Amino acid sequence: MQVKKAIIPAAGLGTRFLPATKAMPKEMLPIVDKPTIQYIVEEAIASGIEDIIIVTGKGKRAIEDHFDHAFELEDTLTKKGKFDILDSVLKTSNVEIHYIRQKQPLGLGHAIWSARKFIGDEPFAVLLGDDIVENGEPCLAQLINQYNQTAKSIIGVQKVSDEETQRYGIIDPKLESGKLMEVNDLVEKPSRGMSPSNYAIMGRYILNPEIFNFLGEHKLGTGGEIQLTDAIQQLNKHQSVYAYEFEGKRFDVGEKFGFIETTIEFALKRPELREKLLDFLKKKITEEELERSLLSNKLK
Ligand code: G1P
Repeated sequence: MQVKKAIIPAAGLGTRFLPATKAMPKEMLPIVDKPTIQYIVEEAIASGIEDIIIVTGKGKRAIEDHFDHAFELEDTLTKKGKFDILDSVLKTSNVEIHYIRQKQPLGLGHAIWSARKFIGDEPFAVLLGDDIVENGEPCLAQLINQYNQTAKSIIGVQKVSDEETQRYGIIDPKLESGKLMEVNDLVEKPSRGMSPSNYAIMGRYILNPEIFNFLGEHKLGTGGEIQLTDAIQQLNKHQSVYAYEFEGKRFDVGEKFGFIETTIEFALKRPELREKLLDFLKKKITEEELERSLLSNKLK
């Protein structure tokens, strides 16, 4: 069966970005001039997804407005001949986007479970909004390609350093041979020194619908939340789950430093900003170095 539906959970409170997220969803924070969630939706479309369900919560209306047609704006841009801007506004209009509210903030697993009626009995994709992946062949398309060959649930992974393993769901591969690995076990945010490997789950999944049997048990895991990783661990006991080490650079826009890094990297890719930004960064570094050497001379 083909993977045509995707779930994007977007119900999180965005506390790491307060006060910006007090009245605005964190998914609407822009990287240069595009909301983070639009990068995710564009990846899904480029991977052949036809229906997207966004799981929202309180205060997330701006996401619905963003993906809606804005007739006045489109009309004005057409009349003014601003077709490139119009293109950027219309980029996500050829996909069906649906919305559902997560009634209680019970965790990622619960958010996915909330969308079960929309998915029905089909394999589906999950894309987490905190992870933007840049690659010629979209990350999700790589996973779908693997799914088409195996019909097994596939988790997108990349290697992280020992210190970083505590921030992610980590898989324990049966054999580390090649990019596609059968999963032996999974653990959500292992404690320091307890990680079974360095393969971290990077916010992209293809899941068989049987996952809903385990999400429906509503078992609380790490952080007192219903964890998707725990449900996949259960699923793995009944049907084998695979991990795929995908190609591409992954950006973490879910925390401040990662957000700033991503903004700089993406701005440097824009021809109209690149030179100006490089000049600015060089100037900043020179100023900082000067200040540091003055300070260390004073201390001598
Ligand atoms: C979630 C998942 C975790 C995954 C991570 C990737 O955690 O639970 O398994 O590794 O996303 O970004 P969160 O970062 O939402 O706490």
